[in-house]
Amino acid sequence: MDWQKWQDRYDTADSPLARRLVTVQERIRLALEDCPPDPLQVVSLCAGQGRDLLGVLPGHPRGQDVRARLVELDPRNVDVAAEAARSAELHSIEAIAADAALLDHYDGMVPADVVLICGVFGNIVDRDIERTINACTQLCKAGGRVIWTRNRKTPDRVPLICD
Ligand SMILES: C[S@@+](CC[C@H](N)C(=O)[O-])C[C@H]1O[C@@H](n2cnc3c(N)ncnc32)[C@H](O)[C@@H]1O
Repeated sequence: MDWQKWQDRYDTADSPLARRLVTVQERIRLALEDCPPDPLQVVSLCAGQGRDLLGVLPGHPRGQDVRARLVELDPRNVDVAAEAARSAELHSIEAIAADAALLDHYDGMVPADVVLICGVFGNIVDRDIERTINACTQLCKAGGRVIWTRNRKTPDRVPLICD
């Protein structure tokens, strides 16, 4: 999979991915509104170009309170995310080219208020879905939010994930 090209699907109006982005952004908006009035930390696993978070922070009342680390393997996507953060003057948002499975990459940012795991569970095997969910106890603060997605294609793993 060319993960930079994959991002182009977001640009087709009303595509499933474009609709999913609207839902994820709404969840992020609500999560930020619910956070305590302190500095906030967000981490995104396999962040892609960060369109979800970076589409919400500019103009959000909590936008400048957020420190975030976007962990993404494809350096082309990392560059796009970093440039989007820079041009929105979100100086506390960093995008790094790294393996999201290695917890060291979240040092100093976790436990976070919001953990984004979007577009991940459809691309990894069940055992890794379970390991990722278990890791959330380290990645996410008590009372924090994990925002995740999974398609409903067979085999539907949403019930497993919810369990
Ligand atoms: C389906 S896309 C989702 C991107 C983004 N979260 C979104 O929802 O737009 C999956 C992303 O995971 C990245 N990726 C794959 N393996 C990775 C790994 N081990 N660590 C970090 N990123 C990875 C890919 O480069 C790709 O951008």
